[in-house]
Amino acid sequence: MSAAARDRLTLVRPDDWHLHLRDGDVLASVLPDTARRFARAIVMPNLDPPVTTTAAACAYRERILAALPAGMAFEPLMTLYLTEATPPAEIAEAKASGIVHAVKYYPAAVTTNATHGVIDPARCYSVFAAMERHDLPLLMHGEVSDPAVDVFDRESTFIERHLTPLVREFPGLRMVLEHITTRTAVEFISQTPSNVAATITAHHLLLNRSAMFAGGLRPHHYCLPLLKREADRTALITAATNGNQKFFLGTDSAPHPRRAKESACGCAGIYTAHAALELYAEAFERAGALDRLEAFASFHGPAFYGLPRNHDHVTLVKVSWPVPAEIGIGTETLVPLRAGGAVAWKLSP
Ligand code: DOR
Ligand code: ZN
Repeated sequence: MSAAARDRLTLVRPDDWHLHLRDGDVLASVLPDTARRFARAIVMPNLDPPVTTTAAACAYRERILAALPAGMAFEPLMTLYLTEATPPAEIAEAKASGIVHAVKYYPAAVTTNATHGVIDPARCYSVFAAMERHDLPLLMHGEVSDPAVDVFDRESTFIERHLTPLVREFPGLRMVLEHITTRTAVEFISQTPSNVAATITAHHLLLNRSAMFAGGLRPHHYCLPLLKREADRTALITAATNGNQKFFLGTDSAPHPRRAKESACGCAGIYTAHAALELYAEAFERAGALDRLEAFASFHGPAFYGLPRNHDHVTLVKVSWPVPAEIGIGTETLVPLRAGGAVAWKLSP
């Protein structure tokens, strides 16, 4: 790549394959950040109450489209929240709707609004079989919530206890291990067949777990799965930049009000939608792999989901810009990643 090309990068418009938009006035506040950069996003269903039915997903989709500012294009790809009470018949309806693109499996109590999640995945095997039949992908928050398992080992334990049997039992089920954080996950995904893939966030590419404790406790670097060791971060960088189709962009941008993060019991989640593609560009540039960003951000996801690539383009320029200290969300504010700092790449208008 020439020096000139390194100051400017034009990509097929990317998609975000893992996003939290919330609802109501928070939704209206955060949606433009995503819609400016991405054509589509897989929208997480962990609302309160969760989006467990196709009818609820349709209604949520309408609220998202209604919150989109005039003149902006964006396609929300809806998901259902799996519970142990989800009937297999819901899967046929979800698939037939054409608007539901996946089902999300949260292990019970593992993260924000996961109380209705799955305690024993064996109780969901008839639903997984229906998903395999109807070719509807399963998205996983891949951590166990077992308090006996160290919080830094919860992803690798999930792979061992739950994902390994699932991959064996459902060879025709497309699965995504969401927001992977460890070398173990990279190695596991790399050696599975093509029906198993993973998303990687910008914050897990840019930060290791020391960022949670840099000079004091940093609640705005707290997310789940937790940031991990430097060796894990470098394994993620290799996975994202080596051209392997099994790895693609999913920001897991997760808005929480400032007061809910700066609290005695703070919420998990990092907000990156305000600079999502730009932050990935930083990570890829540092790895000397800017030329691999387009495949990771714009090609691998559509290929896995069986959707067409986008037709239009976005351009990033190498211009540093200041990130605000906070961003308004409805009547409150949130603290975005890099608040008060700078991002090295800028989206060209
Ligand atoms: O950090 C996270 N925030 N991880 C999750 O799994 C959920 C998300 C949220 O909804 O805030
Ligand atoms: Zn998430």
